[in-house]
Amino acid sequence: SWTPGAFVDLTVSELKEKIGNDKVVLGLSGGVDSSVAAVLLHQAIGKNLYCIFVNNGLLRKDEFESVLHQYKDMGLNVKGVDASARFLGALAGISDPELKRKAIGNTFIEVFDDEAHEITDVTYLAQGTIYPDVIESISVNGPSVTIKSHHNVGGLPDFMKLKVVEPLRMLFKDEVRRVGAELEIDPELLGRHPFPGPGLAIRILGDITEEKVRILQEVDHIFIQGLRDAMLYDKVWQAGAILLPVQSVGVMGDERTYEQVVALRAVESTDGMTADWVNLPYEFLQKTSNTIINRVKGVNRVVYDISSKPPATIEWE
Ligand code: XMP
Repeated sequence: SWTPGAFVDLTVSELKEKIGNDKVVLGLSGGVDSSVAAVLLHQAIGKNLYCIFVNNGLLRKDEFESVLHQYKDMGLNVKGVDASARFLGALAGISDPELKRKAIGNTFIEVFDDEAHEITDVTYLAQGTIYPDVIESISVNGPSVTIKSHHNVGGLPDFMKLKVVEPLRMLFKDEVRRVGAELEIDPELLGRHPFPGPGLAIRILGDITEEKVRILQEVDHIFIQGLRDAMLYDKVWQAGAILLPVQSVGVMGDERTYEQVVALRAVESTDGMTADWVNLPYEFLQKTSNTIINRVKGVNRVVYDISSKPPATIEWE
């Protein structure tokens, strides 16, 4: 029967055999899959694994710095690339959700290709693809669309011509977590909620500005940290905040305010295909709402999303 220990032993020796002294490039996302793939490869080939962690400016508050630090502590050969300005530039004026995804996907490809060119004589591209991704890539959704649209314009970027290594492609998510635990990866990293590739861009309805990103990062941080403090984080499959393109009237002292509205969303799910909104305690919601409105300048109203999927998707865009 399958055990994480046997999987690690077999995979590390297979990777050694296959890759030899060649170089491998891998994009880290801060998520479970790419992190586990990186540690497996690191055990097999050490410094010949070149990891690239891109800050698209749409991550959670302080996440780029703290996760980069964590990767370095794990001994990974990782380069952090802050491309926030490039992503924000590519997103300027775009409100349509699919165009946002496209702009982010294309910018990621450009940034990653530039970085991959910095590594001389790289042979392999490693990816944290897991079994459900293999199945899903048959559908027309997801990143393949971005790659195709890029392909139509200027040909495949060079890194996509590399040989591919996908050490997790036969595993389900729970197996990836067990392998990660076997590799002694921080349980906090392994238990992290899923976070979409386009990040906060698809949680800011309408166009994206640096200021809106900053506001949403603050709100999201209060919500997520609150879930952790209340021991609710692990009871929720995914949670986040959404910045609505609406202003509402409020009062502060004698002043009338006209400020942003944010929605909080927390769902229970097993695979993201269906999801139920989580019945968070009223006391928790009350405290979180008060903290957000008191601390985050520019927000005067908080609502909680009580829609399940279907028909409402987890993300609002
Ligand atoms: P929906 O909103 O479709 O989300 O119910 C289901 C799961 O997928 C994530 N999601 C994305 N992940 N790129 C990603 O990498 C995307 O464009 C994207 N859109 C949604 C979402 O966060 C949830 O976990």
